[in-house]
Amino acid sequence: MNKEKQMSQIAGEIGNCKICRTGKSGKAVVGEGSLDAEVVFIGEAPGKTEAETGRPFVGRSGKLLRSMIVGIGLKESDVYITSPVKYLPDRGTPSSADIAHGRMHLMKQLVIISPKLVVLLGRVAAEGALEKKVFVVKEHGRIIEEKDGIRYFLTLHPAAVLRFPNKYKKEFEKDFRKLKALIN
Ligand code: URA
Repeated sequence: MNKEKQMSQIAGEIGNCKICRTGKSGKAVVGEGSLDAEVVFIGEAPGKTEAETGRPFVGRSGKLLRSMIVGIGLKESDVYITSPVKYLPDRGTPSSADIAHGRMHLMKQLVIISPKLVVLLGRVAAEGALEKKVFVVKEHGRIIEEKDGIRYFLTLHPAAVLRFPNKYKKEFEKDFRKLKALIN
């Protein structure tokens, strides 16, 4: 089975997944980009705009993320963008159970894409991809794990940068400069 078929099978599983939908609403947001991406960006969960459109990172945080991606010389169509939680959580922040369940779908996606580098956008991304509790403010800006041939780089979630620009904007930009150096 080719990658497109494998990913659409996963999209079908997510679309039919009752556990994924529990306590959440809107369209499923499976992910977007190249299935041959060397770099995958992992967020948290869809926001309102994402749940309306079914596309990841298309709201305010998404605009920032996508501009940073382009800013380090990558094309949006060459990377893959997704999150561990595939539907908009009713309570805003996903629960540990949501993240643990979402990991199952996320891992299948990573196996298909087989990237070299995964960029974890914040705490939920790290918990989703690595089952790891991280203190993002202290640990961001570096590879926090290397597993099955994939390097995992931790940075801030763009929503945190938008909320506290004075605190995090420069840090976020510095992380992306490091990311650019890692990729080149
Ligand atoms: N925040 C995320 O983590 N993912 C999205 O798709 C949008 C906002």
